[in-house]
Amino acid sequence: MNILLIGSGGREHALAWKIAQSPLCDTLFIAPGNGGTHDLGEHISLNVEDHAGVVALCKLQNIELVVVGPEIPLVDGLADPLREAGIAVFGPSKLAAQLEGSKVFTKEVCDRMNIPTAGYGHFTNHAEARAYVEAQGAPIVIKADGLAAGKGVTVAMTRDDALAAIDDCFDGAFGDAGAEVVVEEFLTGEEASMFFLCDGTNAIPFGTAQDHKRVGDGDTGPNTGGMGAYSPAPVLDDATQNRVMDEIVKPTLKGMADMGAPFSGVLYAGLMIDNGAPKLIEYNVRFGDPECQVLMMRLESDIVPILLACDKGGLSDVQAQWSSDFALTVVMAANGYPGNYEKGSQINGLPVTGDKQNLVFHAGTQRVEKVIQAVGGRVLNVTATGPNATEAQANAYKLVDGIDWPEGFCRRDIGWRAVERES
Ligand code: AMP
Ligand code: GLY
Repeated sequence: MNILLIGSGGREHALAWKIAQSPLCDTLFIAPGNGGTHDLGEHISLNVEDHAGVVALCKLQNIELVVVGPEIPLVDGLADPLREAGIAVFGPSKLAAQLEGSKVFTKEVCDRMNIPTAGYGHFTNHAEARAYVEAQGAPIVIKADGLAAGKGVTVAMTRDDALAAIDDCFDGAFGDAGAEVVVEEFLTGEEASMFFLCDGTNAIPFGTAQDHKRVGDGDTGPNTGGMGAYSPAPVLDDATQNRVMDEIVKPTLKGMADMGAPFSGVLYAGLMIDNGAPKLIEYNVRFGDPECQVLMMRLESDIVPILLACDKGGLSDVQAQWSSDFALTVVMAANGYPGNYEKGSQINGLPVTGDKQNLVFHAGTQRVEKVIQAVGGRVLNVTATGPNATEAQANAYKLVDGIDWPEGFCRRDIGWRAVERES
């Protein structure tokens, strides 16, 4: 079958790499792809906001499955007209994508279904939000309701920072996304992510990971989209994973089905684990980036039947096979990221691929003739496996050290928690 993959990040390079290996895949179209995906499929340009245009392209190219990488087209409802046209989609409906598109929506599902999460207040009124913060004190967490490209959350350690974050939201720093605000109890523990594939009724666990959001070594400096990740997450032992499934994910699927918005696609649960007890921090309705890269390195099964089962149902009969190896990815970013950075520098020394244990997934790159140029903030995901975290980390940094790109940098401590646990 012909498959269309939407997106241009490292997540999509990893998905394209995995999909292209499937004997079920005839032509893989990638819209728009990046400098690393040319050899895995056919790049096409597509305006994903033009839903009718996407449906028309699928008809024209005989595309039977659309895999949507990022959240924006999902929250915008791209899956709905595709399904109405009889095309399978990996990704939730517009209604179900509210689990990522609205923090208030998710909190209300948690309330209804008794799902463990941080206590909260929900405000559309500036003065009431400020008064709530004054009463609660710090630390406290302020969240713009809608999508804000990962910038809508402030973990405020002081009352003044919390009040400033409230003011930002109501003064329009996040546009419409900040017109409603969730003020949340500060959770303590260890953060980890768990992924579930869902077909509306059933969920199967699809791997665990931890990422590093801060730009600097030792988890310091400003937040980013993620500077590295590894899988599995040691803190999510089997008993805790079972609790996440029973206490968080199953009630969510039931709550969504009950309200006429069954969830299909990948549910990415951001969790805080305190003494084995999980609480939901947030949901995303797509794979994490760079978490997807480490999951794809460990997934041994053909991914295409699994993606199809999410759309068609029957996921409970699917058994995904995983490597017992550890996988770790180091993000190389352009100097200056997450602030201003230059575009157009040349990257040399990239390894020739063909080795399934050591791979460089591209994110913000473009290929101009034979030259790879950096054109984004997060540029490369240098990914390796090993029998444990320590060796996977060493392998990934060995690969990093072979890359010649003076205009880029990376953290040198990705995986430190997992490595510390092993030593
Ligand atoms: P979110 O976009 O909701 O995942 O929030 C971004 C980051 O803020 C999370 O990955 C956590 O590190 C942190 N965070 C969010 N909510 C809380 C909370 N209630 N308590 C502590 N940290 C939080
Ligand atoms: N790496 C975090 C995310 O994809 O949201």
